[in-house]
Amino acid sequence: MSSDQHPVLVVDFGAQYAQLIARRVREARVYSEIVPHTITAAEVSAKSPSAIILSGGPKSVYEPGAHDLDPEVLALGIPILGICYGAQLLARDLGGSVERTGTGEYGRTELTITKPSSLTKAWSTKGDVWMSHGDRIGSVPEGFEVLAASPEAPISCFGSAERKIYGVQFHPEVAHSENGQDLIEAFLHDLAGIPASWTHVSIIEEQVARIKAQVGSERVLCALSGGVDSAVAAAMVHKAVGDQLTCVFVDTGLMRHNEGEQVEETFRKQFQVDLIHVKAADRFFDSLAGVTDPERKRKIIGELFIRIFEETARDLGAGGSGPGPRFLVQGTLYPDVIESGSGHAANIKSHHNVGGLPEDLDFDLVEPLRSLFKDEVRAVGEELGLPHEIVWRQPFPGPGLAVRIVGDVTRERAEILRNADRVVLEEIRAAGLYHELWQSFAVLPAISTVGVMGDGRTYAHPIIIRAVTSDDAMTADWARLPYDLIERMANRLINEVEGVNRVALDVTSKPPGTIEWE
Ligand code: XMP
Repeated sequence: MSSDQHPVLVVDFGAQYAQLIARRVREARVYSEIVPHTITAAEVSAKSPSAIILSGGPKSVYEPGAHDLDPEVLALGIPILGICYGAQLLARDLGGSVERTGTGEYGRTELTITKPSSLTKAWSTKGDVWMSHGDRIGSVPEGFEVLAASPEAPISCFGSAERKIYGVQFHPEVAHSENGQDLIEAFLHDLAGIPASWTHVSIIEEQVARIKAQVGSERVLCALSGGVDSAVAAAMVHKAVGDQLTCVFVDTGLMRHNEGEQVEETFRKQFQVDLIHVKAADRFFDSLAGVTDPERKRKIIGELFIRIFEETARDLGAGGSGPGPRFLVQGTLYPDVIESGSGHAANIKSHHNVGGLPEDLDFDLVEPLRSLFKDEVRAVGEELGLPHEIVWRQPFPGPGLAVRIVGDVTRERAEILRNADRVVLEEIRAAGLYHELWQSFAVLPAISTVGVMGDGRTYAHPIIIRAVTSDDAMTADWARLPYDLIERMANRLINEVEGVNRVALDVTSKPPGTIEWE
């Protein structure tokens, strides 16, 4: 039986902890899913979960409009761990109490074990944990024991071994909590009895079986972008249905150095995937001629990409009733699924997405990464044998180099930027910084500058080096690159890249800047 048939449900009470908890559960090799707090007991039962974790939340359980949980959920006999707000909700709804003291605890706090238990077995007597609460639990429900205390929360941990329900006031999911992961694992493995069986191999096996069942003997189409998600999704589908998969790679002329070759090498030569490499650079440069507005560039590239993909799909017989492809692979990840549930962040994503679905071609979607976080996608990609360079590639925008060429996007200017970008990346890799940086690249502004080279004056292009650190691209900091690295990049850019005579470094964080220049 597959592990996702008995997920651990992480109930989201609206703070940002649910995703982190879901990831920690998966680090314990147990499959987890995030569900809204409005879930009913019947809906919970339908998912047949192996355990439930109630997340923290932004409010007090007594505030008007505080998020509640269907009380029937607590009576289903499923093991439950409540964290922070979740623990207070357990205390309140099971017959204990929560009180407002006016002296909360925020940040590092000392936890003292008052009664040894399996849940807190990683601590001998004391440890530092991370707290963030205004209210505190005043009394535990009948049949529950107090297991640990902190200076401002005498009931920092409580539980009932018989009911398999536990609450912790602190946040075991955050890295600053000592033994936090041990507590989560003790709950999952020891108390709820869930085996650590969600591995990358098991993910692949489950998805392969699922894809086979979904697709049968039909044909499947996949647009490869050169990025991690589409590559891993394609490799997974190929493992499941082999020759039934056809991949399409549209070369827009706006890719990085060697990207097309690497996709060919990996998919056609190594995996022997049926790959259609559409060399469409001329069409993209023609459509972009004279366009300088960044959003217009995005729109033109996105629409042309879809048109070319559609043409290719139609050539293969898709969209008709014949034997053409009926399925389309999408590299949707779990955070996209969660975000589209709540609406807001998903808009940002779709705005950035190029190459959305061809809507009038009637495809059914195959989404093999729908339940995975990015790091899991990477691990699965490695397991499937994809090259390290693809699996660990820095994000690259859909419109490619076009949003890094300020002003006119011409073949010549794209070539200058591609060469400059290659130099920047070679040096970043050589310095061992590629994986530490969220993104690192070159930008070509719409100005020319005067220089002197040899005996003559030059009038050529400056290149701007952009390197940032970030966790999620929503905010970013400019990377403090070592001076000697900057020097090497500058020398090489001017000496090796025809048309470049000056180099500048972008030292803007996000906000107020964006990562890309356009
Ligand atoms: P900004 O420049 O808004 O970028 O700070 C945030 C992240 O999004 C990427 N990005 C794009 N990705 N299509 C994409 O697929 C786009 O049009 C686009 N614009 C920006 C950018 O590379 C960064 O990772």
